[in-house]
Amino acid sequence: MTIKRIRVWDLPTRLFHLLLILGVLGALFTVYASDELMDWHGRIGLFLLSLLSWRVIWGFVGGHWSRFKHFVEHPKAAWQTLQNHRTGKRDPSIGHNPLGAWSVVIMLCAFLLQALTGMCSDDEAGFSGPLTQNLSSDWVERATWYHSEIGQPLIWVLLGLHVVVVFYYRWRLQEDLITPMVTGDKDWETTDFIAESKDTWGLRIAALALFCALSGAIFYAFAI
Ligand code: HEM
Ligand code: HEM
Repeated sequence: MTIKRIRVWDLPTRLFHLLLILGVLGALFTVYASDELMDWHGRIGLFLLSLLSWRVIWGFVGGHWSRFKHFVEHPKAAWQTLQNHRTGKRDPSIGHNPLGAWSVVIMLCAFLLQALTGMCSDDEAGFSGPLTQNLSSDWVERATWYHSEIGQPLIWVLLGLHVVVVFYYRWRLQEDLITPMVTGDKDWETTDFIAESKDTWGLRIAALALFCALSGAIFYAFAI
């Protein structure tokens, strides 16, 4: 067996993860710290909406292991991964494992829904999302209810689980998922061919251009 260094996470995916962490922390800080910061909550929310929309598109055109078709498997595979963890018959995956893949999909959907319902929410204290003008008060009430009563606890649970699981892999299962999310590479023991994520400067610039186009359109349409 030889050990090969495989590029798993392209730079745009790694930056996406870093900016997502900073953005989510910023959105939470601005909402809990003071009512005065709600405008900033909205702006950071729009930034997160741009970032998440970018990740959905990157899931179709990005580096090999960032593409949904290369990591999302049938839920049975996720169940099997959970069983294998219980019986100790683990088989590490080069990209997201089938269980992690579903957690990624669920997190992306939950954060997207949080940002979209935020756009339709009203705090009744002087700040409202830019779509509230186009909606009836019933829909604004429903969106606000979802954003604070369902979305808020949901994102806390998902964040808690995510971080606990990542550290569980690190300390209990001796599988370091964090270093590859920082450096992009995994050292993999194999003699077989393993696909790598393309991570050229051309692709990185295309990723940046896509993000600028998305965020430009979102901020232009919904300036807060
Ligand atoms: C606000 C906090 C966070 C959010 C919203 C978040 C969200 C995500 C998302 C959406 C992914 C999928 C990446 C992709 O394929 O595009 C991911 C992966 C990952 N995250 Fe986080 N994350 C957060 C914090 C953290 C922290 C604090 C750590 C480390 C201590 C971490 C470690 C990882 C790792 C290692 C992966 C890759 C997992 C794998 O190899 O399957 N995350 N995260
Ligand atoms: C993923 C991005 C977002 C996250 C994580 C997030 C998170 C939160 C949280 C935790 C609250 C506190 C709810 C409470 O205390 O009851 C909140 C409230 C609020 N957010 Fe967001 N938000 C996001 C995006 C947005 C966006 C894009 C907008 C509008 C442009 C927005 C508008 C609001 C409003 C109006 C409230 C007050 C709701 C109320 O008073 O019940 N949010 N948000």
